[in-house]
Amino acid sequence: MKGKVAVVTGAAKGIGKAIAKKFAIAGAHTVILDFDEKSGKQTAAKLSADFSESVFIKTDVSDPESLKRASEQVLEKFQRVDILVINAGISYLHSIDEISIEEWQRVLHINLDGSFYALKAFCDHFADNAGKVIFITSGSAITGTGGGMHYASSKAGQHGLMRAASKEFGPRGINVNAIAPRVIQTDILDTLYPDEASREELLKKIPLRRIGQPEDIANLALFLAGPESSYIHGQIILADGGRTY
Ligand SMILES: NC(=O)c1ccc[n+]([C@@H]2O[C@H](COP(=O)([O-])OP(=O)(O)OC[C@H]3O[C@@H](n4cnc5c(N)ncnc54)[C@H](O)[C@@H]3O)[C@@H](O)[C@H]2O)c1
Repeated sequence: MKGKVAVVTGAAKGIGKAIAKKFAIAGAHTVILDFDEKSGKQTAAKLSADFSESVFIKTDVSDPESLKRASEQVLEKFQRVDILVINAGISYLHSIDEISIEEWQRVLHINLDGSFYALKAFCDHFADNAGKVIFITSGSAITGTGGGMHYASSKAGQHGLMRAASKEFGPRGINVNAIAPRVIQTDILDTLYPDEASREELLKKIPLRRIGQPEDIANLALFLAGPESSYIHGQIILADGGRTY
């Protein structure tokens, strides 16, 4: 990955941060797009100090202008984009009576609209016959569990977007795929399963009997971003310890 430029949305922490770190270890320059300025700056500084140059650009993925500005900054700084990881997302484990119209719109806006805005801002900047797009979606799109109707709907929407993008970008030599995690140890998980008892119940449902780590997702992202996966295209790959099937 030496010399490649990888843009990761929502990479200030959690899964996105682990992906950026994995790419940085492999030699890529990483671009951290996040609206969490404090954590984003810290992540970029640490990656630059330990591995390879990383920059943080404060970005709200639900604002297309913010993403457009970010893509212009990336081009100005590195003159290229090789990998785009569409990862930023939010989740609330709410039932229908707890989901306000505003909350419905917020989740769809960040998770689904934000995915399209990121794609639109960066898709024309890949080199000819090259490029990797990786969506971080969720098993919730398949099972309808784990985050409320808005979350499952936004994640199912991402799958449709990913598939349509794979048809449109395939002929341009851009690989497009999705990684669908279920339970990964990050802040989102701490919100959804705050106590020991709910964690114990959760573990019983996972055949591998462990909660996934961000690195489990990062390992797969590294594979999908590299040359060995070049014939894998338009796929949704579950990384869930065997929980779904
Ligand atoms: N953790 C899990 O168990 C799990 C399971 C399935 C899918 N996922 C998906 O993985 C992705 C990453 O989740 P995570 O667990 O690392 O969450 P996280 O909360 O640890 O990190 C999400 C990051 O996205 C950023 N973000 C949120 N809204 C943003 C916006 N509008 N603009 C820019 N940045 C924004 C946050 O600031 C944060 O840094 C999400 O799309 C999530 O739906 C997570």
